[in-house]
Amino acid sequence: MDQDIIEAIRQDHEEILKVLGDLEVHERASSETYSVARGLLYSHMYGEEVTIYERMRSEMNERIEDALAEHNSIRIGLDRLDRIEITGTEWAPAIHDLKRRVQFHIDSEERLLKAAESFLDRSERFEMKERFRRAQGEQSGYTLA
Ligand SMILES: [Fe+2]
Ligand SMILES: [Fe+2]
Repeated sequence: MDQDIIEAIRQDHEEILKVLGDLEVHERASSETYSVARGLLYSHMYGEEVTIYERMRSEMNERIEDALAEHNSIRIGLDRLDRIEITGTEWAPAIHDLKRRVQFHIDSEERLLKAAESFLDRSERFEMKERFRRAQGEQSGYTLA
């Protein structure tokens, strides 16, 4: 059975937390892994913003505003990590900080997903998932300058 948008988002969350977990472990942290995490986060957030956030805005504007602010806080965390050497002493606190921001956001987004789940009908959820994955594809070429 094909995934809908809610399942696709939850699957991304698991993947994102796993790769951030790897980046917290000294032996597993590498610039390749960081660029995977970075690409996943940027494309995931963009995909959400142009699909489910856009759609749910009229129903729960305040919650969407909070979620967007959390995305921006994650982008700030990524901007900071972009300038830090993985081998340096600043890395560990910065990656813990990013993971904390991401975990906080995923927890609050779960409440948003639950609301969306009861609000969006099946066909809309499947259609939205197609657009979500397409939007992510458009963003996947976005790399470090
Ligand atoms: Fe998300
Ligand atoms: Fe999000």
